[in-house]
Amino acid sequence: MTETDYTLLRSQFVALVGDETDALANASNFVALMYNAIDDINWLGVYVLRGDELVLGPFQGKPACVRIPLGNGVCGTAAATLETQRIADVHAFPGHIACDPDSRSEMVVPLIVNNELLGVLDIDSPSPDRFSATDQAGIERLCELFCETLPGSEPFWVKGL
Ligand code: SME
Repeated sequence: MTETDYTLLRSQFVALVGDETDALANASNFVALMYNAIDDINWLGVYVLRGDELVLGPFQGKPACVRIPLGNGVCGTAAATLETQRIADVHAFPGHIACDPDSRSEMVVPLIVNNELLGVLDIDSPSPDRFSATDQAGIERLCELFCETLPGSEPFWVKGL
């Protein structure tokens, strides 16, 4: 994926959302759009912060683990540190949670609105070292755009989903 591909994806996401304000609907289309546009991935979805756990939200791919405590696995680490985790080899990541045994590399981006963590976007690939710095920048910008579609506040997101 090039920067141009990600620019196109952002335009497509803006068009898909239109003036819709339902967080669940927009999250569902957000993951479906990206899952079908990004090559060589086997899972893509959102985990939502509920209390001190991440809970499975809209996703594409095989069924996945439902609850991840903050600090656990790649997702819980991204949530606890508020920093994107771009993991070239999941088997080398201490505490990696293997939902789909096909996954070899992974990227998790925190979703933050008004300085509040709302959840994470998780993407898995069956190929080692699948995600480049260009992918990270493109996907982080898409996540920012997605967060901008969430009207209002953290309680809307948490209760609205
Ligand atoms: N691998 C993740 C768990 C979620 S699944 O990949 C969908 C982790 O280590 O947090």
